[in-house]
Amino acid sequence: MTAQARITLHPAFEVGAVDPRLFGSFVEHLGRAVYTGIFEPDHPTADAEGWRGDVVALTRELGTTVVRYPGGNFVSNYRWEDGVGPREERPTRVDLAWRSIEPNTVGTDDFVRWCALAGVEPMIAVNLGTRGAAEAADLVEYCNIEGGTTLSDRRRANGAEQPHGIRLWCLGNEMDGPWQIGHRSAAEYGALASQAAQAMRRVDPSIELVACGSSARDMATFGEWERVVLEHAFDDVDYISVHAYYQEREGDRASFLASGAAFEAFLHEVIATADAVAARRHSTKRIRLSVDEWNVWYIDDFAGETNLELRERPRLIEDVYSALDAVVVADLLTTLVRNADRVGVACLAQLVNVIAPIMTEPGGEAWRQTTFAPIALLARHARGTALDARLDSPRLTTARHDEVDALSAAVVWNTEAGELVLAVTNRAAEPVTTALDHLGFTHVGLVEALTLRADHHGPRRTPAEVAEAAPVRLDGIVVGEGSTALTLPPESWSLVRLSARA
Ligand code: AHR
Repeated sequence: MTAQARITLHPAFEVGAVDPRLFGSFVEHLGRAVYTGIFEPDHPTADAEGWRGDVVALTRELGTTVVRYPGGNFVSNYRWEDGVGPREERPTRVDLAWRSIEPNTVGTDDFVRWCALAGVEPMIAVNLGTRGAAEAADLVEYCNIEGGTTLSDRRRANGAEQPHGIRLWCLGNEMDGPWQIGHRSAAEYGALASQAAQAMRRVDPSIELVACGSSARDMATFGEWERVVLEHAFDDVDYISVHAYYQEREGDRASFLASGAAFEAFLHEVIATADAVAARRHSTKRIRLSVDEWNVWYIDDFAGETNLELRERPRLIEDVYSALDAVVVADLLTTLVRNADRVGVACLAQLVNVIAPIMTEPGGEAWRQTTFAPIALLARHARGTALDARLDSPRLTTARHDEVDALSAAVVWNTEAGELVLAVTNRAAEPVTTALDHLGFTHVGLVEALTLRADHHGPRRTPAEVAEAAPVRLDGIVVGEGSTALTLPPESWSLVRLSARA
């Protein structure tokens, strides 16, 4: 007998609105993300400024809403002034984070123009590694003040007459990590983040600020880091960041497929820590999560940033993804949607070439990796209100994450489209017959059902190989009065769209 599961939902059981910012991404000055990624003046599709048109088109197709920039580790020794003004006057520097040569051909004003082309919101990180509150406030002045001050007038002289109006700002990057230039203790960083936040807000009170949380759940300082940072900066910030990367280790496929369960536990632990700080202060303020780096990353294959040969636009961290990786990525994004009440921003790390859904060849093609399709499907359809999808699922035992649910589901009620959208992962190696009880909904009909199967093919290196791993139609769905029956293939992620009325 196949395993059985039940998902129960009702329009009145709302989790919260799915913020479009959940479908964000990240472009760092790292490897070929910027140079020969989004920017390549000699490319046949490049516009007059040098932006690759094929990459802009794929970014739009991916449904990306917000893009974090310029790092990552890169930001912790970045002087933003190097990247503005006439290109021929910009200095060439050694980037200490990735030991690369940085020509500064692309900087903040350029990136903001690329964002307009790609139809995304910029999210800017300030350097709290080698710099401090003054330089962070200067950058806000340069970007967001209309004019009449030295820095805002410099922006205007550099061609940006209107202020950039950047709302989202990260207060440094992964300051808990010993690899970070300017790494600090939680107390030191918390005090600095608070000072920088206050200075930046005095320039523009409307900005939203993200304090650095832990760079991974397995950091020795995790938990205590968040607590101490928020004890210092609770009143000054809106978000605390979460960074999470997963990979298959030692052929342990079951644990890898259950990465979403570990991810969700991580999110809940950060929320609990932030709420504990709120409780100690008798505050009703709720800090939201900015999951501004998440993905599958075979980080164990990366030799480390200190052993790198000093080069310009090196090929770094260009992971090639499999169908299995795509199922895990889909499950991670499904997990973020399910937690829409507390996750306000999420950025897939990264967008182009570096652990990315979009790959490019210099002078050549741009193509989609296996992870592209499920992200694009969720970004397009998981819009509206996340519902509490009560799950009765078979359980799985994994080596790394103990016992987890075999299924992981998010349901979004998209009132605009009149659609109930179910995203569901089956982490088990066997099919699971599932009843979706949609109590309180009427006129339910099937619009579309797609499924993505993990296989054993391994990394898919060419567009043709990727195409073979594209989501296919999920057959055998029976829509009934009050309940829909479906069988989820083993090791799969599916998206089911049902027309409905509440
Ligand atoms: O996304 C790659 C790197 O991962 C980022 O620069 C850093 O923040 C993280 O460790």
